[in-house]
Amino acid sequence: MKLILSLALTVVVASTSMVIAGGHDGNPAVTARKAHMQLYQHNLSILGNMARGNTDYDAAAAQAAADNMVALTTMSQAGYWLPGTTNAELGDETRTLPAIFGADSTARTIGADLAAASVALAAVASDGLDAVGPALGPVGGACTACHRPYRARN
Ligand code: HEC
Repeated sequence: MKLILSLALTVVVASTSMVIAGGHDGNPAVTARKAHMQLYQHNLSILGNMARGNTDYDAAAAQAAADNMVALTTMSQAGYWLPGTTNAELGDETRTLPAIFGADSTARTIGADLAAASVALAAVASDGLDAVGPALGPVGGACTACHRPYRARN
């Protein structure tokens, strides 16, 4: 009985840790930060598509996307930007360059710029395209400002 119980427990623990790790072999920190980036991309492109006229402007959808940007920039990312998880150690699995963890890294400042730009965007997201368009620039600018020095080219 004891043996069966402990076997059952082992199975539960093993399958739980598979779920936590994302169910595949990738480095969990890399998986998590890429997911965070994908959520930036998803929400920003909703607004970008409206600004470019690819989709109709929808105040509620614009506000929701901008609010999501604010929420994303407010989350702590400390658990998945870890030294030792750059392309120097993990190769092609990640495009994060070691310089992002250097003593003179500007990544935190750029992250703060993105947060401020997202708050400014959310403040006008329901006010129509003439207000949204100009507010998108500083948000996209912060993405590029970090990718240029700290993300390896494809
Ligand atoms: C402070 C730095 C920083 C900021 C700000 C930043 N990124 Fe990134 N981004 C990175 C790095 C580094 C990677 C590479 C991640 C990896 O492969 O480990 C990346 C990767 C990505 C990826 C690819 C994700 C994948 O699945 O491989 C997308 C998409 C992306 N960023 C979009 C954005 C958008 C949109 C913004 C702005 C709203 C943004 N990023 C802001 C640093 C940043």
